[in-house]
Amino acid sequence: MKAVILLGPPGAGKGTVSEVLVEKGYNHISTGELLRERIRQKTPLGLEAKKLMDAGQFVPDDVVVSMIRKLLEASSPDAEFLFDGFPRTLVQAEKFDELLASLNGTIDHVVQLECPADTIVERLVGRRTCRKCGSVYHVSFNPPSKGDVCDVEGCELTQRSDDTEETVRKRLKVYAERTAPLISYYEAKGLIQQINANQPIQDVRADVLKVLG
Ligand code: AP5
Repeated sequence: MKAVILLGPPGAGKGTVSEVLVEKGYNHISTGELLRERIRQKTPLGLEAKKLMDAGQFVPDDVVVSMIRKLLEASSPDAEFLFDGFPRTLVQAEKFDELLASLNGTIDHVVQLECPADTIVERLVGRRTCRKCGSVYHVSFNPPSKGDVCDVEGCELTQRSDDTEETVRKRLKVYAERTAPLISYYEAKGLIQQINANQPIQDVRADVLKVLG
């Protein structure tokens, strides 16, 4: 089992980069998307998670680690995973190391996407997503070809409830306090590769592909 981790603040472009890596055969795991799936299904976990997500706070570590554990334990030992938004605390990173070790898995790369805060706010406030296939658009930087409709599914695009300017600024603060320490954690293991995510989408994608070889 092999893992690549995309590390970066909200709106750095983790989901957008993931789209091209999925085409290369990676299994994409976004903990944000797994949680939104539970919100759509109105499960007790989803309803609790929604309150925290809408407030720009993290869901408890044990909840997220348990979701990942179930997924990995049910997967093929040869699978290659792309983690988007996980781990995002030191506790999650340590638990993830233990879990991978128990499954003979390794982390091959940690790709750190860097982007300034004001650019991030502009990106997230203008983000639109397809509820059916998860495609990510931006009203100005990456618009769909027709109106407000997904190019793949033809359905109306939606805006995430945590993509208001106020919540985005809270999410950035939480990222700085709780996730940024992971940069040193993975640097110490010699795994971090930095990418400038403040450039056109196709250039960010090309740089990530170069790093992953
Ligand atoms: P999650 O869904 O993971 O959100 P996030 O990490 O905040 O990241 P985003 O999805 O907002 O941004 P992204 O980097 O994927 O950017 P995107 O490619 O879409 O998590 C949501 C919440 O769930 C968390 O706040 C937390 O509450 C909870 N949660 C999730 N995982 C958790 C965990 N492990 N532990 C605890 N809680 C957890 O791009 C953004 C926009 O910019 C798009 O419109 C896109 O078109 C545009 N764009 C992208 N790249 C470019 C570019 N290069 N140039 C111009 N525009 C661009």
